[in-house]
Amino acid sequence: MVAYVKNNFLLVPIIVLLLFVVSSYARFSTKVTKDEISDICTQKDRDINELVCFEVLESIPGIATRNHSDLAKFLIKYDSQKFSDMMKQFQSLENSTTDRSSKGSYHVCSETSDLAIGCFDTALTSLANKDYLTLYYNVGCTMTMAGTCRDELSTVVKANPQLFKDISFVRDVAFIVLMRTFM
Ligand SMILES: *[C@@H]1O[C@H](CO)[C@@H](O)[C@H](O)[C@H]1NC(C)=O
Ligand SMILES: *[C@@H]1O[C@H](CO)[C@@H](O)[C@H](O)[C@H]1NC(C)=O
Repeated sequence: MVAYVKNNFLLVPIIVLLLFVVSSYARFSTKVTKDEISDICTQKDRDINELVCFEVLESIPGIATRNHSDLAKFLIKYDSQKFSDMMKQFQSLENSTTDRSSKGSYHVCSETSDLAIGCFDTALTSLANKDYLTLYYNVGCTMTMAGTCRDELSTVVKANPQLFKDISFVRDVAFIVLMRTFM
């Protein structure tokens, strides 16, 4: 009985996931509309900074002529660049900090940024190969990395508040990619 119930529980997420993946095949080739951009950025139940969201999406050249695959690609490249800038900043903070604990935290953040960049690289390849499940996991990976870094930073006594904003920002952008292509 217990085994039966367990197996059924396992089945449900797989079916839901398959539905997401199948439905997202259609999503990728459709054009991004102005209404949609507005919808993405103004969802009240989501943890997204509206101002940042509009700023990023409106910076995409010819956004209204693009499909969702293009949108995801642009946002992934954009976010990867941001992580790369953050990584340099964390490396330099790690080098200049003498406090051992803070140094360790900056080290974790520079490592997680590096890992996130790797996940974005894989995400771009899987997007090109239309391997949307791998895409999903790898964009999710960057959000996990951002979360890990943020938790580490919160242990640094004199962490620059801008760093927290930067991390929320990259996390928001990754979230937009997931939301737009899979939900
Ligand atoms: C999206 O549009 C680009 C051209 O802007 C095209 O190369 C690509 O194949 C399209 N992707 C899908 C999934 O339709
Ligand atoms: C930090 O220090 C390492 C080792 O000394 C050095 O290779 C690296 O370039 C430095 N990075 C920055 C951003 O200062």
